[in-house]
Amino acid sequence: MMSFDMAQPSVIDYLKQLQQQGVSHVEIDDEAREILREFYRRGAASPKARKSTPSSAPAPSAPAPSASVTPPTETKISINGHSAAEKIDSLKEQCLTWVPTKALGTLRDKMVFSTGNPEADLMLIGEAPGYHEEKKQEPFVGPAGEKLNQIVKAMGLSRDEIYISNVCKFRPATKNQTMGSRKPSPDEMAANLPFLRAEIDVVKPKVIIALGGTAIEGLLEESKPVSQLRNAWHQFQGIPLRVTYHPSYLLRQSEGTSEKRMVWEDMLAAMEKLGLPVSEKQRRYFLPKE
Ligand code: URA
Repeated sequence: MMSFDMAQPSVIDYLKQLQQQGVSHVEIDDEAREILREFYRRGAASPKARKSTPSSAPAPSAPAPSASVTPPTETKISINGHSAAEKIDSLKEQCLTWVPTKALGTLRDKMVFSTGNPEADLMLIGEAPGYHEEKKQEPFVGPAGEKLNQIVKAMGLSRDEIYISNVCKFRPATKNQTMGSRKPSPDEMAANLPFLRAEIDVVKPKVIIALGGTAIEGLLEESKPVSQLRNAWHQFQGIPLRVTYHPSYLLRQSEGTSEKRMVWEDMLAAMEKLGLPVSEKQRRYFLPKE
């Protein structure tokens, strides 16, 4: 059995070599998938690495790599450019050909990176693009995006003033896909997460809001329901993070239910943390009528 440390450079380099030869999709077996997963977990791809997995973790073995692999190189994201906008552009460019994402072979090709102000104080994070987002190559532009726009407007902000991104930068693929979507898997989110981490390093928001349980699962590797995580401040990369329901969840609720108010209370908490003005009228939004 080959240890993770022996195996991962060979697997990563082998995939890189295939990519250079023009191969865009490969089938990988469970062992190789586990090596890639462990690779992201250890944060080798992130400038701000996650903590190492304890050495007692089981060491996965590798399939025999090609005999002619190049010497090991680390797969790292570099943040290039001077302005925040240039740095985000450099991340976008690297994300397009990011080997760990491509190697999964389960995501579609068109990238949907982020939108908004790369120097914003407020960053909103969703799970992955859907049909509408892929078509426009912009996050949150379908029905969930319209709901999100209403929330942002109620806060007295516009999309251009905040930064909106997703954990996963590509639409998860399904068989015979038309307009349908599926949630990104933990592997898909882990493969993309180094970019979101780098975006946070660039944007340096004062507050992050995670939209929905899947985004939180990707960010914190927590599979607790939103109901248990909301209404409290968490931290992500040292930045205060609030959890709330996904806008598409609100779309599925009937009129008069309390979820709208819960989301609004999460937004009020974020506004207060950001030092934004909150009027008495805003404080009463979505309260049950007396
Ligand atoms: N849902 C998300 O989580 N992100 C999008 O960009 C669109 C819908």
